[in-house]
Amino acid sequence: MSGRLAGKVAVITGGAAGMGRAASLAFAHEGAKVSIFDIQDEAGAETVRMIRAAGGDAAFFRCDVTKPDQIDAAFAGAIEAFGPYNVLFNHAGTIIVAPLHETPDCEYDRLMDINVKSAFLVTKRAVKHMSDNGGGSIVITGSIASELGYALEAVYCMSKGAVLQLMRTISVEYRDAGIRCNAVCPGFVETAHGLREIAELDAAGQQWEEEGMAATQGRICKPEEVANAALFLASDEASFVNGAALYVDNGWYAKG
Ligand SMILES: NC(=O)c1ccc[n+]([C@@H]2O[C@H](COP(=O)([O-])OP(=O)(O)OC[C@H]3O[C@@H](n4cnc5c(N)ncnc54)[C@H](O)[C@@H]3O)[C@@H](O)[C@H]2O)c1
Repeated sequence: MSGRLAGKVAVITGGAAGMGRAASLAFAHEGAKVSIFDIQDEAGAETVRMIRAAGGDAAFFRCDVTKPDQIDAAFAGAIEAFGPYNVLFNHAGTIIVAPLHETPDCEYDRLMDINVKSAFLVTKRAVKHMSDNGGGSIVITGSIASELGYALEAVYCMSKGAVLQLMRTISVEYRDAGIRCNAVCPGFVETAHGLREIAELDAAGQQWEEEGMAATQGRICKPEEVANAALFLASDEASFVNGAALYVDNGWYAKG
């Protein structure tokens, strides 16, 4: 298959739904063989069906990315299916909307496990595997909340700041092993995650659905618009892009 990722073998965490599904479809369309690691069996199988129907190659591996044994099993399955991988889109994540002083301690642990520990567990395995197999490209999903602060999203902002620093560190530490690492940093995106976030913030008295969206990013972002940014960073077109946070927010971050 020809395409911008022809000959690439990709792993996408959180690749069953939302932006992850859009990326799974886009990466496969551009010629990558795609392994999807996710906890949603039906959505994962459906994404694989969509890819195969379009002539691409993909496999789904049920994997909770907070669990090291499940990550190991999923990577083993992916390598067995498609050989060594050279693209990783570390995307799985979630959000809690709550005042800091009302955030339960256990929710802190849950969010940091899903957003931060998972990135540690997945990328530490990927950099070793890629180093041993000629290099690769890693894309991590940050957020506009990686560097700016948002009320009612303290732990989420902490988690997204952490993965941006992970991205920067990998880009420095593994450059000479032939690995590039970058981040996509979206604003509000039309996914289950983004729509729930907007609804919960609005229920708490903020006004994102209309005025807030118009004033910051103009309109809600489509999942495919983030997938396309991740595709660029994953591809060899971004061969000299390493350690970058690519904001996919229609100028919101630049505005401050
Ligand atoms: N939607 C937005 O507005 C927005 C904005 C900025 C950043 N993000 C980031 O995007 C990611 C969420 O993606 P989305 O918006 O496509 O949301 P989504 O909820 O549609 O998709 C998230 C995917 O991750 C999977 N997932 C969740 N926990 C998992 C786990 N423990 N193990 C494996 N898979 C798991 C889900 O099953 C789902 O398929 C997060 O990293 C989030 O921080 C989202």
